[in-house]
Amino acid sequence: MILEVENLNVFRDGSHILRNVSLEVKKGEMVCLVGRNGAGKTTLLRTIMGYIKPKSGTIKFLGRNITGHSPHEVSILGIGYSPDDLKIFPSLSVEENIELPLITRKYNKFMVKEGLDYIYSVFPVLQSYKNKPGTHISGGERRMLAIARALVTRPSLILLDEPFEGLAPIMRSRLGDRLKVLMEQGLTLFLTSSNLYGIPEGANRIYCIERGEIIYHGNLKEMLSDKQVKEVFGLI
Ligand SMILES: Nc1ncnc2c1ncn2[C@@H]1O[C@H](COP(=O)(O)OP(=O)(O)OP(=O)(O)O)[C@@H](O)[C@H]1O
Ligand SMILES: [Mg+2]
Repeated sequence: MILEVENLNVFRDGSHILRNVSLEVKKGEMVCLVGRNGAGKTTLLRTIMGYIKPKSGTIKFLGRNITGHSPHEVSILGIGYSPDDLKIFPSLSVEENIELPLITRKYNKFMVKEGLDYIYSVFPVLQSYKNKPGTHISGGERRMLAIARALVTRPSLILLDEPFEGLAPIMRSRLGDRLKVLMEQGLTLFLTSSNLYGIPEGANRIYCIERGEIIYHGNLKEMLSDKQVKEVFGLI
């Protein structure tokens, strides 16, 4: 098991945001967490990354307890994170944005080149725009750039917060294909979506979260016939 979350409870400003959340992701899987706005998806990813301290529960990465570790420690251990607000630096070029996590880790020139080559093999479009300012590219390309930044340090697991949000169907399907390729290369992916369209075809398993609680776990087809899930997404 690459990621194990057990009985996680998170409070913010006195409200109970995550309620006994348990889930697991196996090596090589693509798992999607779906839930409406405000359900607790970002809170869960930020807690896994160490930005938020849980009140109780444990988070294990490759069998090791990482609960309470700092974001830097979690990232060094091999979890990449692409936040929903992208965090792209407007004053830096596309290439400088990609390099940033490597420079922060004091990688040498050779390792930076290796990182860039890897990213350009996954997202060739970023290579053609490498000198453009990070904000002068399309929404879909910015999304790829944000994922590239999570990927360039070669993590074994990446957490993607709503990677398909706001993308036109064609971009959604292109990005979905890229994520599938990454999975085929052995990367493990855990991603979120606030709607049913944002669940990629390649997802092996789905968890549904509602008001901080996991209310469903299984495959997409069965999920769509689950009464509680149908109620949450207005399908009844
Ligand atoms: N810093 C904070 N302080 C207090 N409450 C917060 C804070 N951040 C989030 N919350 C609350 O926690 C709940 C879960 O928020 P979260 O951002 O995790 O949801 P989400 O599923 O990611 O939603 P979205 O689809 O809109 O991104 C919401 O009720 C939100 O108002
Ligand atoms: Mg969110």
